[in-house]
Amino acid sequence: MLSKRLKSIADLVPNNARVIDIGTDHAYLPIYLYENNVTKNITASDISSKVLKSSLDNLKKHNLDDKITLVLSDGLKNIKENFDVAIIAGMGTHTIKKILSASQIPDTLIIQSNNDHYELRSFLNTLGYKIAKEIVIEDKLHYYIIIKFQKGRELLSQEELLFGKSNNINYYSYLLDKYQKIYKKSQDKKHLEYINILSKLIEKIPE
Ligand SMILES: C[S@@+](CC[C@H](N)C(=O)[O-])C[C@H]1O[C@@H](n2cnc3c(N)ncnc32)[C@H](O)[C@@H]1O
Repeated sequence: MLSKRLKSIADLVPNNARVIDIGTDHAYLPIYLYENNVTKNITASDISSKVLKSSLDNLKKHNLDDKITLVLSDGLKNIKENFDVAIIAGMGTHTIKKILSASQIPDTLIIQSNNDHYELRSFLNTLGYKIAKEIVIEDKLHYYIIIKFQKGRELLSQEELLFGKSNNINYYSYLLDKYQKIYKKSQDKKHLEYINILSKLIEKIPE
């Protein structure tokens, strides 16, 4: 069964879109998208040939090895086709930024970075992408931030760059608690600022 994290990503993929899953690993997400008729037009890529062997084994198990295209590629470097949507999940912002520095990237990006979300949001904002949807999911005691970016301009406030647009009260409360603990020890003004912003964000969320 697909993890809650990957299922939440799959739920953001538009029907019948031409999709590339960059860094596909086991190809779980492409298999789900195909078998659940979200889209049949899927390429799965990875930088590692070893990983791609196990992706292929999985595709074979599902009789999808001639339906889903597998490509060995560092980001989009070996990708010739155009896609409507690129999915990049389970990597850090540094790698994601390198991948997105390619010349031609799709208009819709579904990204789940493991870190540095401020940097991710501001990088994509500068690149000319707006946040179409941001969700936070909790899976096995871990919060995952999943952002769907769409080509377009928007002005993001410092609060939005820092904490996103999810309005997820559990996540904001978790962060508030975390920064309160850090502030107790550090007395750092930056953490006090985070505490004030998060308190206001939490107050604004309707019950
Ligand atoms: C932790 S796995 C995440 C797999 C899957 N996307 C997920 O979210 O469950 C990261 C995968 O990204 C691949 N990867 C890392 N850097 C990459 C790059 N520059 N281009 C393509 N794939 C990359 C790794 O080989 C690995 O299979």
